[in-house]
Amino acid sequence: MKLSLYTGDITKMKVDAIVNAANNSLLGGGGVDGAIHRAAGPELLAECRALHGCPTGQAKATKGYRLPAKYVIHTVGPIWHGGSHGEAGLLADCYRNSLALALELGCETVAFPAISTGVYHYPPEEAAAIAVSTVRGFLAEHPGGPEVIFVCFNAAAEAAYRKVLN
Ligand code: AR6
Repeated sequence: MKLSLYTGDITKMKVDAIVNAANNSLLGGGGVDGAIHRAAGPELLAECRALHGCPTGQAKATKGYRLPAKYVIHTVGPIWHGGSHGEAGLLADCYRNSLALALELGCETVAFPAISTGVYHYPPEEAAAIAVSTVRGFLAEHPGGPEVIFVCFNAAAEAAYRKVLN
């Protein structure tokens, strides 16, 4: 299956779409969201304003502007509240809805950060397990689906994905 791991900065990736771990406002923030807005330039924020936010688990697309990526797919992961508040289902929704949008946009390559595992405190190994199983499931149902790259920002994140993938 078309899955791979990459350790580094998602804003540098020359793919059809990078996924942003955004918040409900879609107006920027810290973490990967801040890095994407800084690298894309102010036109990204202007387009995001016109989207009027995004519910948790859903996804909305913009252009990539100054990024090497053609599109940014903004999705909103769940905040971790201990695991019994629907977090797993919402996190899976983020991956599925982002991939459905990527397919609609005709993307052949999509890079995902580890959604919710930073500021939103989702445990990295549990999040990696959901990311991998949801993407595998989607690609099994959509054989024409994109090649997916899981982007790890550090060695700890990479270890979580390696454990799940092996
Ligand atoms: N490239 C790849 N991954 C990155 C990068 C990067 N440049 N920078 C950080 N990460 P987070 P969340 C990793 O906090 O938990 C924002 O303020 C990071 O190490 O960015 O979904 C939003 O506006 C971690 O593994 O997103 C929201 O308010 C992963 O990306 C909130 O944070 C996600 O961490 C969303 O929190």
